[in-house]
Amino acid sequence: MASLLPLLAFLWTAAATVLPHSNTVLVSSTAPSAELANCLRTSFYGTYGGSSSTQEHIYLPNEECLSDKSSLNGLSSGSLVPLNTDIEGDTGRLVWVGQAGVEPKEIALQSIDDAWNTISTRSQEILLQSSSSDFSAQKVLGSNQGQSHNQDYSQPIQLLHQSPTSMLLHVPSTYLPIIDTLLPYHLVPVALPTKPLPASLGLMVNEWEPVPNKFAKHLANVTKHLRFSPEIDKIVSDGIEHNQIRRDVRWLTGEAPSGIESRHSFTKGALKAANWIKEKVEATGAYCHLHQYLVGFSPNVICYYPSSLNSTEHVVLSAHYDSRGSFGSTRAPGGDDDGSGSGHLLGVAHAIHTQGVKFEKQVILAFFSGEEQGLLGSHAYAEHLHGKNTTILLQVQADMLAYHAPGEPLQLGLPESIHLPEASYLIGNLSQIYSPELLVGKTAACCSDHQSFISYGFPSTQVFERNGWIADPYYHNSGDLSQRENYDFEQIVSIAKITLSSLLTVAGYQIESRT
Ligand SMILES: *[C@@H]1O[C@H](CO)[C@@H](O)[C@H](O)[C@H]1NC(C)=O
Ligand SMILES: *[C@@H]1O[C@H](CO)[C@@H](O)[C@H](O)[C@H]1NC(C)=O
Ligand SMILES: *[C@@H]1O[C@H](CO)[C@@H](O)[C@H](O)[C@H]1NC(C)=O
Ligand SMILES: *[C@@H]1O[C@H](CO)[C@@H](O)[C@H](O)[C@H]1NC(C)=O
Ligand SMILES: [Zn+2]
Repeated sequence: MASLLPLLAFLWTAAATVLPHSNTVLVSSTAPSAELANCLRTSFYGTYGGSSSTQEHIYLPNEECLSDKSSLNGLSSGSLVPLNTDIEGDTGRLVWVGQAGVEPKEIALQSIDDAWNTISTRSQEILLQSSSSDFSAQKVLGSNQGQSHNQDYSQPIQLLHQSPTSMLLHVPSTYLPIIDTLLPYHLVPVALPTKPLPASLGLMVNEWEPVPNKFAKHLANVTKHLRFSPEIDKIVSDGIEHNQIRRDVRWLTGEAPSGIESRHSFTKGALKAANWIKEKVEATGAYCHLHQYLVGFSPNVICYYPSSLNSTEHVVLSAHYDSRGSFGSTRAPGGDDDGSGSGHLLGVAHAIHTQGVKFEKQVILAFFSGEEQGLLGSHAYAEHLHGKNTTILLQVQADMLAYHAPGEPLQLGLPESIHLPEASYLIGNLSQIYSPELLVGKTAACCSDHQSFISYGFPSTQVFERNGWIADPYYHNSGDLSQRENYDFEQIVSIAKITLSSLLTVAGYQIESRT
């Protein structure tokens, strides 16, 4: 399989997805609670936005639903947006674009209108370039294997709806692989699913909560019974190794001689990274496979450690190994975003091996791609796990762990919204026990891969490098290297000790032999 991948990855064909059968998008502040009309709950496409005050819930109701006025009774507000009929039968995606969580004063001059102008201007540049005979993926992404192609970029990206902080776009399949390159650095895309989210989610409570209550209760109980364990402390302190994480991060960024210039999901560098990660984690006793979810995108790397008790319950730790650079540059080292999270996962895998850990439940380490184009890899994987009725007790995404502003203490940021609070409480309490040097707080940093898991009702949260806004001056920039001021490997180590302790605590373990 591995030998076919390089071929598959550069065909640059349309993503095999279709738009849902609806002519209207409904964007509302009302969540799909039990009081909402059934035809809306069954046409729910997700919750978007990292700040609870500006969160938007998106529905794609059919005509029958909309023709019955009573369907809209339960909504406190909303906008109905027609989907242009020209895009019917097209293979593009609806993509929400919103604030990543960069400090507002840093971006004060950028209104959402300016952002749309940027997207239009940049996509017109692509259209112009694509008509020239030497246009190739190289120009945009620096993929030194991208085939020359005359893809049709004439179907434009459409702005369907905008709020003061976000946009809803229709992105034709030709633009989807490069949508990240068209956005201002402080905006991030989240692609809508291609079919409605399961309507069964969140119905057992009045207040809408996507994650079933039994998982919240389980994690609350785990937190309540937490005690310092000298054995866990020893495993995480001996197992997580600073030097190894630094070496691995620098291989991924190309600061060490790996030949990787970019890990953008459509580059050769991303494929190289995927195969390298697979081998590294397999060497720690895991079983890994490459999950190819969309033609042309580098695959997710999914690794699991089997349960020593034949348990069907899972605990998932993840990061994204793809990267995003500056507009106009083909370099995308992604040292912090998310080389730090990926390096941290490799550190956890290494510790599992050297400390002889065997888990009682199944443990999955997932390295996603397509995150920068709208959480595409994690969404495909979470949808797959949901389709198999997989039981997940906890899922934690690690995205950007290394940077804190000058003079600030080591920190751990937990999500302000888009998380299961009980999952965050557990991580916060584990931090105080095993990495007390970290100042625990909240962050508005938005829209990483745990959102895909929350959408499918899994108990998830994220670990982030800072309390408050994103402060990294090299965020989504081609200068995102690890050899720079305030890129702090100590902080990655401290956070890795927490996520490993969460695996040991929630999955249960025995020690077999130390190597
Ligand atoms: C809560 O956790 C404790 C300690 O792990 C366990 O003994 C107990 O059965 C749990 N209670 C519930 C309701 O799951
Ligand atoms: C797990 O299942 C396998 C095969 O079904 C069986 O041979 C083994 O004894 C089981 N192990 C435990 C701990 O139940
Ligand atoms: C998952 O569960 C649903 C409902 O309990 C059932 O209808 C479906 O067949 C199950 N799917 C799989 C793959 O087990
Ligand atoms: C620890 O857990 C409790 C809930 O059991 C929660 O209120 C508290 O905020 C948590 N502490 C941290 C630092 O997350
Ligand atoms: Zn990221």
